[in-house]
This record gives sequence, structure tokens and C-alpha cells, in this order.
Amino acid sequence: MKIVILSRSRFLYSTARLALVGRVRGHHVRIIDPLRCAMLVDGERSALLYRGEPLGPVDAVLPRLGRSWSFAGLAVLRQFESLGVPCLNPSGGIAIARDKLSTLQCLARARVPAVATAFARDARDVRGGIEALGGPPVVVKLSDGSQGLGVMLAESAAGAESIVGAFHVFNQHILVQPYLRCDGDLRLIVAGGQVVAAMRRRAAQGEFRNNLHRGGVAVVHRTAPEERRVALEAARAIGLRVAGIDLIESPHGPLVLEVNASPGLRGIEAATGRNVAASLLRCLEARYSAASSSSSGSSRLRASSSGQPSTIPDALR
Ligand SMILES: Nc1ncnc2c1ncn2[C@@H]1O[C@H](COP(=O)(O)OP(=O)(O)O)[C@@H](O)[C@H]1O
Ligand SMILES: [Mg+2]
Repeated sequence: MKIVILSRSRFLYSTARLALVGRVRGHHVRIIDPLRCAMLVDGERSALLYRGEPLGPVDAVLPRLGRSWSFAGLAVLRQFESLGVPCLNPSGGIAIARDKLSTLQCLARARVPAVATAFARDARDVRGGIEALGGPPVVVKLSDGSQGLGVMLAESAAGAESIVGAFHVFNQHILVQPYLRCDGDLRLIVAGGQVVAAMRRRAAQGEFRNNLHRGGVAVVHRTAPEERRVALEAARAIGLRVAGIDLIESPHGPLVLEVNASPGLRGIEAATGRNVAASLLRCLEARYSAASSSSSGSSRLRASSSGQPSTIPDALR
């Protein structure tokens, strides 16, 4: 297959790893920066240029969209989708996952157990939310944060109010959750309807955030059936084929903390010894095969200039 990885840099660990494993599996892999893509959006003539040139044939797309720049990334991904190119994760699911509030609302609608969360636009309305959650201590977090940045612990309702008030000055959306004390959290990687790897992350000394970017350490985790069920349901509810599902243990069973549409590979592969990159690529290969067999010759994929049905959209040639 001719695979495009949408990523800001070829030097990012997970991007480099996916490219390497993709090539080992016999694919032609090209890494493209969505910020250098130009698009023509015009019905039949829709097209996509990279660094000013037509991109050439593309069979499948593997998006690695960071939270901070996902507007441009999502726009490019949508363009590939509308050109009929199979993508590992759909733009709709990635758009939901980039925002914690949307994710939690989506999970609630699908009855997937998740951490209770309050959202208030005005700092004066925060206290009611904290009371509904059972009182302090609470965790206050940016709705679109990642890597543990923008996640704070407030010991009192007044502390939480002042954090929320400060962030609203910068027009940031803030979520409040009960502080759940537990032995770290769990990260399960879902790919193609299966949990392919799982680790437990524990925070560094003096830190409550378990993120590996914040100095947390990870060990392999043997998943319980209930954990696998919740992770698979969460990925399905958000509409993601591949996802990193963070779970936190509670007396009532595992609760979803967040959903990552582009989970990092370094920590999970090191902790588990699993080739997670290969699982992701297998999922993309299956997606490509399913798309090719279900739409060969159909109108879903665009016809080539020769008039023959093709899995390669004209606009990418
Ligand atoms: N409600 C909570 N109770 C206890 N710890 C939490 C809670 N929310 C977040 N944390 C800790 O903070 C870390 C980062 O929070 P998370 O919501 O996953 O944001 P990010 O997207 O920045 O990783 C989690 O991995 C967990 O260790
Ligand atoms: Mg997290």
C-alpha cells in the first residue's frame, strides 16, 4: 500500500516508529505535514496538494494529530475522506477525542462508565458543580489539554473557583472532577475491536498526574474482562478504530478518564514489549481491504481519468 502518515514531524518517536514498521511490512510510507497541504474544495474537482505539488497515489491514511494543531490536521483528513481514501481513524471521532467535555458527553450518551465531571462557564457556578460531585478535593482541568499539562488539584472549593476564574480570563474551558485516589491509572490500546496492549502508569514522587510526560513510570498490566469491555465500548462510542483509553479504577469498576485518538507508542511498547505499531498497521491494512472490497467499482471511490474504477482518487495522482 501507499500509506500517508499525517504528522508534524518525521522525528516524533511514534511517527518514526509507524513509518519504520510500515516499511518493514512492505508498504510505501510517506510522512506529510498537514500544515503544508493545500486543498481545493469543489465537488468533483476536489484536490489536495502537498508543498505545491499533487500528492500522487494514496491508498490509506494514518493520522497522528496532536491536540494543538488539529484544526488543520482535521481539515486535511476530511479532504482525504471526501476523496474516498480509507483512513485509520475518522475525522469525526478525532474531533470528539480532542475535547474532553465532548468525549465525556459522548460516553455518557452511550452509557459508558466515565469519571463524573462538572462544567461551568462562569466561576460563580463552579461551587454548585463541586457540591454535586461530593465536595473537594477536586481535579480541575483544561478541556483540550494533554500530557498532563493544565491538570490541577484543588484542595478546596475556593481554590477550584480561583483556578477556574483565572482560566476563564484566557477564554479556556475548564472541567471539574472528583479527585479519585488510586494506584495509578491504566492505559489500554484498542485497535480494530481488540485491546492489543495495556499498562499501568504511576505518578512520580510528589506528583498526582500519572502521565509519562510528567515523569510517571509504566508497567505492563494484565487486563480484566471488565476493563477490556469498557475500553472497547469507549472507542466504539467515540467512533475510533484505534484509541488509547485511559481508565481509573473505582469501587464501582473501571471509569474512563480520557480517550486519545493518537496514543503515543514509546511508553506502551517499552512497558509491554508489544509491537503496538504493527497492530495499528494491521488495522489500517484491514480497513484498506474492507474499503477496496466493499466499493470496488462503486461510486464511493472516484473513477480514474481512464474511466476505469480505481481505488486511487484522481485528485491525488
Ligand atoms: N479525576 C481525577 N482523579 C485523580 N487523578 C486524575 C483525575 N483526572 C486526572 N488525573 C490525573 O491526571 C492525569 C492527566 O489527566 P488527563 O485527564 O488524562 O489529562 P491529559 O490529557 O493532560 O493526560 C491522569 O493520568 C491522572 O493521573
Ligand atoms: Mg491523559
